[in-house]
Amino acid sequence: MTDLTDNTATDTAVVGAVDTEVLRERAVASLITARERTMLLTDCVEGPDLTAQHSPLMSPLVWDLAHIGNQEEQWLLRAVAGQEAIRPEIDTLYDAFEHPRAERPSLPLLPPREARRYAADVRGRALDVLEGTAFGGTRLTEAGFAFGMIAQHEQQHDETMLITHQLRKGPRVLTAPDPEPVPLFTGPAEVLVPGGPFTMGTSSEPWALDNERPAHRREVDPFHIDTTPVTNGAYQAFIEDGGYDDPRWWTPDGWAHVRRNKLTAPLFWRRDGRQWLRRRFGETEVVPPHEPVLHVCWYEADAYARWAGRRLPTETEWEKAARHDPAGDRTMRYPWGDADPTPEHANLGQRHLRPAPAGSYPAGESPLGVRQLIGDVWEWTSSDFTPYPGFKAFPYKEYSEVFFGPEHKVLRGGSFAVDAVACRGTFRNWDLPIRRQIFSGFRTARSENV
Ligand code: AVJ
Ligand code: FE
Repeated sequence: MTDLTDNTATDTAVVGAVDTEVLRERAVASLITARERTMLLTDCVEGPDLTAQHSPLMSPLVWDLAHIGNQEEQWLLRAVAGQEAIRPEIDTLYDAFEHPRAERPSLPLLPPREARRYAADVRGRALDVLEGTAFGGTRLTEAGFAFGMIAQHEQQHDETMLITHQLRKGPRVLTAPDPEPVPLFTGPAEVLVPGGPFTMGTSSEPWALDNERPAHRREVDPFHIDTTPVTNGAYQAFIEDGGYDDPRWWTPDGWAHVRRNKLTAPLFWRRDGRQWLRRRFGETEVVPPHEPVLHVCWYEADAYARWAGRRLPTETEWEKAARHDPAGDRTMRYPWGDADPTPEHANLGQRHLRPAPAGSYPAGESPLGVRQLIGDVWEWTSSDFTPYPGFKAFPYKEYSEVFFGPEHKVLRGGSFAVDAVACRGTFRNWDLPIRRQIFSGFRTARSENV
């Protein structure tokens, strides 16, 4: 494997067992699953809904669609297979850095039919490349990395498109069954994670992206962390207690932001007499008290934690809570072990269109009993998005490197809208502290003796 800078036995053991043909089958299946979801998200609305911009924060859906195809063309057809560009003139239209989102609707984008045909044409050729490419020899093809990266890229844009659906006006067009009802969670509110070193990041996970690498040891002081994400009910108590009107709970930037923008509740919430309603994919419903809170920005998560006498976990604490097995000083791929996620473990992949109630998925809990670290809601951490020691941008600087720095905060664990291929104990997401159209929630922590 590449990037093997820390020879921590438990981390490197993971991949030894996965052979090339298994990875190739996984790549085919992951690409197909991603495309089915892309089609689901774009076939359920008519042309004008695909080309419209539903929010200045988002691209038109038809941009995401052709951008998915264009990234796939660039990496699988051109970089891996050395093919000529199919339509060289469109590259610049779908370069996320050349055109900010607000500009994208006015570009001469491929219309829906052409965008679909282009993406399908690229996909047909990419599957041929996948069949005929030896895994290994180059870093791009090692363990099928480029194919896994492109499947993850498409799934990431599928999550982006689901956010566009949530922002879109008009009646519901997407449906999915609700998660299984569960008895009210009555376990402990928090668990103690013992202090000591653990291995963070990975050098062996075959499709881990550059910012997750390399594996390295970190010392962590003992801390307590919430057993479940913070619920709507708990968050409502913060609102009813005047949390949004009290500068004590907010950082100076956060306070300026809530005042300027008159924030009084999570995005999509509306007060109706004594209760709160929310809009979710085109329908209005009473805010369910036991579900993890969703659509809060970092400033709101941070303020809630301070109000509760607590704080957000650092990214390192979050990963230790999610991956460390205290029984064997072992770092695992997921809270439940090394096995890939199943529907028993976590709420992933848009199987549902909402998070599951707090305390769901006992099979997915960590050895210490922390639940729902993976799936349901992205969890804000207190940490800035920074590179790990030994980080090397791969295969392009614009995935992670250009975003490193104090302006972005790290989110962990994935939401109900993340596919398993793009979700791991090591996976890192990031965004500006004001963003809340994303499927973001949080849990809180405290240092051992605080
Ligand atoms: C990792 C989710 C922040 O959507 O901006 C998609 C993923 N990068 N195409 C984003 C991504 C390039 C990225 N996030
Ligand atoms: Fe992209």
